[in-house]
Amino acid sequence: MNITTDHQEGHGLMLARYQRLIEISQQLNSTLDLQSLLKKIISAAKELTNTEAASILLIDAATGDLRFEIASNIKPQDMEDIIVPKGSGIAGWVALHGEPRVIDDVTKEPTWSRKVDDTIEFQTRSILAVPLRAHTKIIGVLEGINKIGSGGWDENDINTLTTLASQAAIAIENARLFQQSDFIAEMVHELRTPLAALKASTVLLLRPELKEDRRVDIIQTMHSETERLSRLASDFLDLARLESGRTRLDASRFDLKKLIEESVDVVHPQAGDKGVNITIECDHFTANADRGKVKQVLLNLLTNAIKYNRENGSIWVRAEETRGEDDQPFVRVSVQDSGYGISKEHQKHMFEKFYRVSDTAGFTQGTGLGLAIAKQIIQAHGGQITLESEQGVGSTFAFTIPLATR
Ligand SMILES: Nc1ncnc2c1ncn2[C@@H]1O[C@H](COP(=O)(O)OP(=O)(O)OP(=O)(O)O)[C@@H](O)[C@H]1O
Ligand SMILES: [Mg+2]
Repeated sequence: MNITTDHQEGHGLMLARYQRLIEISQQLNSTLDLQSLLKKIISAAKELTNTEAASILLIDAATGDLRFEIASNIKPQDMEDIIVPKGSGIAGWVALHGEPRVIDDVTKEPTWSRKVDDTIEFQTRSILAVPLRAHTKIIGVLEGINKIGSGGWDENDINTLTTLASQAAIAIENARLFQQSDFIAEMVHELRTPLAALKASTVLLLRPELKEDRRVDIIQTMHSETERLSRLASDFLDLARLESGRTRLDASRFDLKKLIEESVDVVHPQAGDKGVNITIECDHFTANADRGKVKQVLLNLLTNAIKYNRENGSIWVRAEETRGEDDQPFVRVSVQDSGYGISKEHQKHMFEKFYRVSDTAGFTQGTGLGLAIAKQIIQAHGGQITLESEQGVGSTFAFTIPLATR
């Protein structure tokens, strides 16, 4: 009697779980943004198998090693440092053999490495790892960490996570393909303008009756169009790498105020040409981030604040301490300008690639990639980038990056 009730109850629970799994699969298939997709997958994994934390490791196509793409228990800046070599550790084993693996007590598992726990200050007790298989190819590993409650992982957990992983892997592949196709079309479109200018210039240069001063003009045009092409190429590459999660942050501790001063120095001549005054209001902070990439973000925000400012306008750069998700110490850097401001309608699209406000696009050079790149860089640090703007008054762009704790 008891057995029957238990069995029926178990059956009911399984059904509920499968129903939820179907719902989640549908959600996954309609998400084409890789980062939000990965977030949904790990929260589904935690929910369906009742675990404390979950993570996704994807195989790096170039090296075959596994790298953490997302983990609910690891800070983004720590994630960058962890590489799981091909075939090694539990995730490596799962990726190599294409089979699930259950470790009820990691301390009894010889292939488990405590190194990761030490890096991230987290205590792993148990792991359920399943392969992420898209069609026939294994693209990574989905892990559930620390089963909640007294019992260990059961057959249902393994089956549920395996099914989720197979749906998730296909959704990840689709998101990657979508990003590529969308991006390539727009990229080719952007390349056309400078290429057309170059082509026309060469035709002109071949005309024998061309006057010497015209010739110099044309060569100058060719020079600036070539510069533009080469900037486009590096922006495209940056963005493609960032979006596909192939960019690795090279995090270090650095003096943020010094970096701000250094960046302001770079744009100083440009600000001077327009009579724009830049004020820095910032204490000393030691940030823990990729210095070169943060500089790239700062330079774009500063350049924008100059380009889209009025003659003799002002810019204020400030930094103040704040808290990130999970209450970790972050610093908020803001760049405020006294420019024309951005309407609510345009604000919504500001961080999309290739987006430029038509009123300003006419009189300034740009591709509309700067803010899209900035957003990806800041998100890769676990930070946020925001915009507040009032038309006719000016705009404030702000971003957060982690502060050094140790
Ligand atoms: N501070 C600002 N004030 C007003 N408009 C701005 C400001 N910053 C950006 N914008 C608007 O947002 C658009 C996108 O900015 P973004 O930096 O992404 O591209 P861009 O400056 O046009 O080109 P680039 O790729 O060279 O940076 C700009 O074209 C401009 O219309
Ligand atoms: Mg810009």
